[in-house]
Amino acid sequence: MAKEKMWGGRFAAGTDALVEEYTESVSFDSALYAADIAGSTAHARMLGRQGVLTNEEAEAIADGLARVREEIEAGKFQWSQALEDVHMNIESRLTELIGDTGKKLHTGRSRNDQVGLAFRLFIAERVRSWRGSIRKLVKVLVQRAEENQDVILPGFTHLQPAQPVSLAHHLLAYAWMFTRDDERLESALNRICISPLGAAALAGTTYPLDPASVAEEVGFHRVFSNSMDAVADRDFVLEPLFATSLIMAHLSRMCEEIILWSNPGFGFVRLPDAYATGSSIMPQKKNPDVAEIMRGKTGRAYGALMAMLTALKGLPLTYNRDLQEDKEPFFDADRTVSMSLELMAGMMSELAFNPQAMRAAVKKGFLNATELADYLVGKGIPFREAHHITGAAVAHAESKGVALEDLSLEELQQFSDRIDQDVYDVLDYDAAVRRRKTPGSTGPESVKQQLTDLGSWLLKKAR
Ligand code: ARG
Repeated sequence: MAKEKMWGGRFAAGTDALVEEYTESVSFDSALYAADIAGSTAHARMLGRQGVLTNEEAEAIADGLARVREEIEAGKFQWSQALEDVHMNIESRLTELIGDTGKKLHTGRSRNDQVGLAFRLFIAERVRSWRGSIRKLVKVLVQRAEENQDVILPGFTHLQPAQPVSLAHHLLAYAWMFTRDDERLESALNRICISPLGAAALAGTTYPLDPASVAEEVGFHRVFSNSMDAVADRDFVLEPLFATSLIMAHLSRMCEEIILWSNPGFGFVRLPDAYATGSSIMPQKKNPDVAEIMRGKTGRAYGALMAMLTALKGLPLTYNRDLQEDKEPFFDADRTVSMSLELMAGMMSELAFNPQAMRAAVKKGFLNATELADYLVGKGIPFREAHHITGAAVAHAESKGVALEDLSLEELQQFSDRIDQDVYDVLDYDAAVRRRKTPGSTGPESVKQQLTDLGSWLLKKAR
């Protein structure tokens, strides 16, 4: 029984069935097959170059691994739970295919550095894919912003009407968040693409290996500096998990706004049919389920991050089997963030904005009060006093159920004799947006500049 296990040499009795089921990882880590084969192929070729294996042996192993890969991709591979994980399943099949030479593949290597390399390769590929999806979403946001430079809506603080902003500016706020998410991933790739192969179990090995050539062959730019660090740390899992958590937080805030804005009380957007669902009982309903589920799924990404942080915290150096728990949270976060980014790009490109509803809302919340205060400051009144005068004017307008600009000049002059006919230019909402000239503000020059800068960012990413 125990002799069937690759590590079964010292074992007399077989593994308990429940133990086997509890400890296996092949049911999920089979997803790493291509990365494992790429790492093993590079390892075998390096062993050939270093004279640890003959070149014929190395090539036989590489050919055999390519055949295993074909079998897996054709759906013909028999995965075995008894063989625990993707690594031993592949090695075992290799030996079946090419005979005893297959047993030489594991020379100078341990599953500890093997799994590290395979998972790093897998993660690097996923991170690159997320970056592609982020780019797509930023492109959509830039496009929608370009179309909506003249649309204004209430900007909120505390979800209370604050000052008018352009819809373009609002959308670009998110675009910038996603560019930083992309930078975070780019930076994380520097640390993900470090090859641990050659660390062996934990102490390095007595074989004359050349880890740098393995790293180069798999497209990594660096090798480990410390064999114990190489097999023990999981920062290369945690950094992308933090990045996905933050991406999901950003997406979730967008979702929240889509949900609010599609409520008829706001009426700022109409959901595209393809991204909404109806109610089984209320015929009038059009529900923002995609946005709600995305907001809900954000917790999964945070959960993955927490699970991995917790798994790591008490582990003595070096490899501990706990580390096998790094895979499922990552796969779940990957699926969550990949689908969410794609869906948000699709939903944002088709969302119908309602500029009339946005303008009507702008008129409701005294969003030009700051303008009146600034106007009074311009007439020589200290800001604190101007603030007070404006507050009194707002209270007066509110009691009449009208906006500030609906008050007559005489009425306004009751609050300050410095107020003149020119006040109405200042109270104009579009003018309020136009007059904001500071860099990064909602003013049209700033928005144009942002569009230019994001356009260059997109171009750079396309290369
Ligand atoms: N499936 C294991 C993992 O994902 C592979 C490494 C096992 N190493 C060991 N020494 N048992 O972590």
